[in-house]
Amino acid sequence: MVGSTWKTLLLRALLFLSLLYSTIGKSSSSSNHHHQTTIRFKMAPPDAAAERQITMRREGAAFKVALFADLHFGEDAWTNWGPLQDIHSVNVMNTVLDYENPDFVIYLGDVITANNIMIENASLYWDQATSPARNRGIPWASVFGNHDDASFEWPLDWFSAPGIPPIHCTQTSSISYSVEEECSFRGTGRLELMKNEIKHNASFSSYGPRRLWPSVSNYVLQVSSPNEPQSPVAFLYFLDSGGGSYPEVISSGQTEWFQKKAQEINADSRVPEIIFWHIPSKAYKAAAPKFSIRKPCVGSINKEKVAAQEAETGIMDLLAKRTSVKAIFVGHNHGLDWCCPYKKLWLCYARHTGYGGYGDWPRGARILEFTHKPFSLRSWIRMEDGNVHSEVVLS
Ligand SMILES: *[C@@H]1O[C@H](CO)[C@@H](O)[C@H](O)[C@H]1NC(C)=O
Ligand SMILES: *[C@@H]1O[C@H](CO)[C@@H](O)[C@H](O)[C@H]1NC(C)=O
Repeated sequence: MVGSTWKTLLLRALLFLSLLYSTIGKSSSSSNHHHQTTIRFKMAPPDAAAERQITMRREGAAFKVALFADLHFGEDAWTNWGPLQDIHSVNVMNTVLDYENPDFVIYLGDVITANNIMIENASLYWDQATSPARNRGIPWASVFGNHDDASFEWPLDWFSAPGIPPIHCTQTSSISYSVEEECSFRGTGRLELMKNEIKHNASFSSYGPRRLWPSVSNYVLQVSSPNEPQSPVAFLYFLDSGGGSYPEVISSGQTEWFQKKAQEINADSRVPEIIFWHIPSKAYKAAAPKFSIRKPCVGSINKEKVAAQEAETGIMDLLAKRTSVKAIFVGHNHGLDWCCPYKKLWLCYARHTGYGGYGDWPRGARILEFTHKPFSLRSWIRMEDGNVHSEVVLS
């Protein structure tokens, strides 16, 4: 009896050790884990990093920004129409850039439809979407939407009559996986997408503070005049409104970050602030036109209900109280393109730019233009056919 107890104990100890070893072995060899570690320690800029500056072209000239919203690149790559609609989206962007020649471009989320992308590296599509700005040397910035890091969802129509889906997934890397692994794409994470975007030197995007992760793309850019680089003309704030890998919300942590940042760089609220995120906050419901769009609202389509964030944790209260905040711009609802006043600021939709995503309303892009001394902010929508409409003075 004594001998067999010792044997049992020894076996248990060995089993325990081997389990421990295999757990450690797995976590340190997993490539995801490795990527995250690399990003965390090498790529994250310190919180206190100086604001990146964009300098206006000429003293006294207006600064013009084009908003490209809801491009939804990468849909249905296994059909003819999927890749074709991305070509159409590139055409829309090129047309708008030809007409407007903006100083800056903002990619306002849902750049790609990751839940429809059957390759491991969704940055390949992201790069196609940012190519119109990049090819012209126009600097740009981006924020995340709810589709950008979503996991791949098997399309129902792949499940043919016998119930066995044909394998469409293609090998895209040199690492060989089994078929099952190869087809279960988890989406390219926000950090990875951002890491690949900021390799381009014309990208002004940032990860944002590490303590706000998994919400990535919370940052601020300073627009400066060429003669007085130290005196800001405007601050552009970018916030990640979630969705995809986590809830659709702007957290109290992000609100606190905004408050501290604004206090630090614009304590007396002297410099105008303009805000960008993807999913409208609940305040958009309160501001929305009831039926047709009438003054004081300005816009051309009011075709659906506001699809707001899941919760409101304080960002709207804070923004509505700051006299320096002029307007918020969102995407997400492809059938809405209005601007409406809300308390002391304006709540605006962009215009659906991409052929990807739901809805067949004609494509276009919202343009903003601001001047310095005195500050003024105007906006309008430029359509793919060249038409301009919905001009509004926001400040
Ligand atoms: C994914 O694609 C981007 C853009 O082409 C590239 O920079 C990056 O190195 C790729 N990542 C991997 C892991 O292949
Ligand atoms: C980006 O890099 C290219 C090539 O190295 C250079 O020609 C260009 O001026 C750079 N652009 C910016 C905005 O720094």
